[in-house]
Amino acid sequence: MVPRFPETTIVNLDKLTYAGNLQSLRTIESAPNYTFVHGDICDLDLIQRLFAQYNFTTVVHFAAESHVDRSIHAPIDFVKSNVEGTVSLLQAARAAWSNSDQRQCRFLHVSTDEVFGALGASGKFTIDTHYAPRSPYAASKAAADHFVRAYATTYDLPVVISNCSNNYGPYQFPEKLIPLAIVRALEMAPIPVYSRGENVRDWLHVEDHCEALALMLRQGLNGETYLVGGSGECSNLGLLRLLLTIVDEELDRPAGTSLSLITFVKDRPGHDFRYAIDASKLITELGWEPNHTLAAGLRTTVKWYLANRPWLKAVMDETYRTYLQTQYSV
Ligand SMILES: NC(=O)c1ccc[n+]([C@@H]2O[C@H](COP(=O)([O-])OP(=O)(O)OC[C@H]3O[C@@H](n4cnc5c(N)ncnc54)[C@H](O)[C@@H]3O)[C@@H](O)[C@H]2O)c1
Repeated sequence: MVPRFPETTIVNLDKLTYAGNLQSLRTIESAPNYTFVHGDICDLDLIQRLFAQYNFTTVVHFAAESHVDRSIHAPIDFVKSNVEGTVSLLQAARAAWSNSDQRQCRFLHVSTDEVFGALGASGKFTIDTHYAPRSPYAASKAAADHFVRAYATTYDLPVVISNCSNNYGPYQFPEKLIPLAIVRALEMAPIPVYSRGENVRDWLHVEDHCEALALMLRQGLNGETYLVGGSGECSNLGLLRLLLTIVDEELDRPAGTSLSLITFVKDRPGHDFRYAIDASKLITELGWEPNHTLAAGLRTTVKWYLANRPWLKAVMDETYRTYLQTQYSV
């Protein structure tokens, strides 16, 4: 398979933490314009060597520790990868691009709506919403966003920042709610849900997120921030009702079989009640629109997980199963 942008050389740097998986890259690994490098974004020497070797004009910065629950138990890992790692990339880009025409370069920082904190029953996050992160994960991403803006102001680094709502879709590590529920339903095992499942998230299919990022790369204005969300608001319980109905249909199970596995567990400390995104800037200025409705996107996601059991088996190893048991006591 040839990745999008066939005229572009793509170098994918990843530390392959528990969340990274070479099997997820099988479809592009032999593409002529693609190279994988196993490494850590905190390793400034490595990043500088890669800049010298490939003369990058673009950085799309996805790498992060991303799971809120893990950030509650190991916040320093999040400071390292999300803050120090981001600064290391910024530093290398700044040094490499200082003598080139920076208008040809772009540092796209992929961030989250969680930097804005939590909403009540109404309202949406806008580009004017003040930062108010409430978990160590959100705080580390907020700190990274501030560093990206500081490099733009202080060193004229050509940056664009994206703050996106909750993603779902294929290849997602089954610690996030949707793949976790699918995996547990497949195994007829309890599906842990915090408190009474009333927390609301604004769900977006990962391909719609990536389309938004591609638009920002091509047409986004330097120094700008774009919020990405598909108006897919749903309570966790509402989402699971929709998802598990699809799982039962796809597995030819009696209706309600998977729903009966839902098990309410003690709430996450500081659990943000609601997120919702106002994506009007991205829509009006860059012409973005999501292509997946939540119902259709969930169905293709369920079908993907059912068709990719070897991938699931590989990521559901003993270490992860033990983690699940410790985390949720289920
Ligand atoms: N998943 C979501 O709902 C969502 C929503 C908005 C924004 N984001 C952001 O998108 C990005 C990707 O999220 P995800 O859900 O795919 O995360 P993930 O945790 O599933 O994957 C993170 C990837 O980064 C790699 N990585 C972690 N630390 C690294 C380091 N120090 N050096 C190099 N590689 C490292 C991991 O090996 C893994 O491949 C993150 O920056 C996250 O904050 C995610």
